[in-house]
Amino acid sequence: MRVLVTGGAGYIGSATVQALLAKGHDVEILDNFSTGHRKALADVPLHEGTLLDDSFVSSVFANPFDAVIHFAAFSLVGESVTDPLKYYRNNVAGSLNLIKSVADGGAKRFVFSSTAAVYGEPDKMPIVESTPTVPVNPYGRTKLAIEYCLGDAASAVGFPAVALRYFNAAGAVPGLGEDHEPETHLIPRLLRSLVDENVSFKIFGNDYDTPDGTCIRDYIHIADLAVAHIKAIEAVDEIGLTQINLGTGDGQSVQEIVECASRITGREISPAITSRRAGDPPRLVAANDKAKSILGWIPKKSDLDSIITDAWNWHSNNPDGYNDRG
Ligand code: UFG
Repeated sequence: MRVLVTGGAGYIGSATVQALLAKGHDVEILDNFSTGHRKALADVPLHEGTLLDDSFVSSVFANPFDAVIHFAAFSLVGESVTDPLKYYRNNVAGSLNLIKSVADGGAKRFVFSSTAAVYGEPDKMPIVESTPTVPVNPYGRTKLAIEYCLGDAASAVGFPAVALRYFNAAGAVPGLGEDHEPETHLIPRLLRSLVDENVSFKIFGNDYDTPDGTCIRDYIHIADLAVAHIKAIEAVDEIGLTQINLGTGDGQSVQEIVECASRITGREISPAITSRRAGDPPRLVAANDKAKSILGWIPKKSDLDSIITDAWNWHSNNPDGYNDRG
């Protein structure tokens, strides 16, 4: 298929481009490098520009695509709270331009990169796709708004669309790893603290109602996420309009991650425990039955050892990340 990947220079987007190329798809990337990395770019045609520029976006679709996979978005929960309009403008308004171009015939199918943040803090685990969506921060609300917009446009116009709701993306694939600025995520912060003395790592609270008192999350390897996107573009015509969780169905605590990282890196890691980070629910775990039954997707690299081994390989070889910020 001829596939446009927005955000193809980002963390999950670049891994998906790599997997699409390995499967023989014909890929083009749209990115403005606001958070993506030029060093993460595959050698494919690049449309450099912003989704906010509607004439640029429609020009990208002059030659229609078979599928669009839409990753491009801001994704820092904390920043979305302090600067919500930045998130609504970039994520929602940018997606509207993209969806409009697809609705106008620019592509046959649409796969959207959504998030578990649309669920907020449900009491009942695991989280199924019918769990009420009550996002608790602007980031989650922008992704849910896009899901609604995409769903309504897809129904009205009749193009197939699917929203993939990721849980905690982690790991690395050959040559491509996690490098956000600022970095807020657990695994990259922990591993970078071992290679960069300027990065400190602390556990945010060990008084949660979980077996070891630290928060539990469902970590999913970006290689498995990439496979899910490919399966989604291949299956979306039959699936129709829907939302699918991407997680393992299993959760690991912050303490378990620290112990696994210590074993794999051979370093002693004894982080300070600080107070809770605002807005962290104790446990978020996906039910992934729908992904298994509808996409035939089974995570193969998302055991904790593989995630930490691959992430450590990347961080230890790239202690400054991509080191390509101007
Ligand atoms: N944590 C620490 N120390 C750190 C960083 C994180 O203890 O330095 C803890 C957090 O408190 C949390 C856990 O590690 O308990 C995971 O935190 P992350 O920031 O890695 O991930 P989140 O679960 O907070 O966020 C993820 C995605 C978001 C998405 C959210 C949906 O990164 O994009 O899941 O629930 F919105």
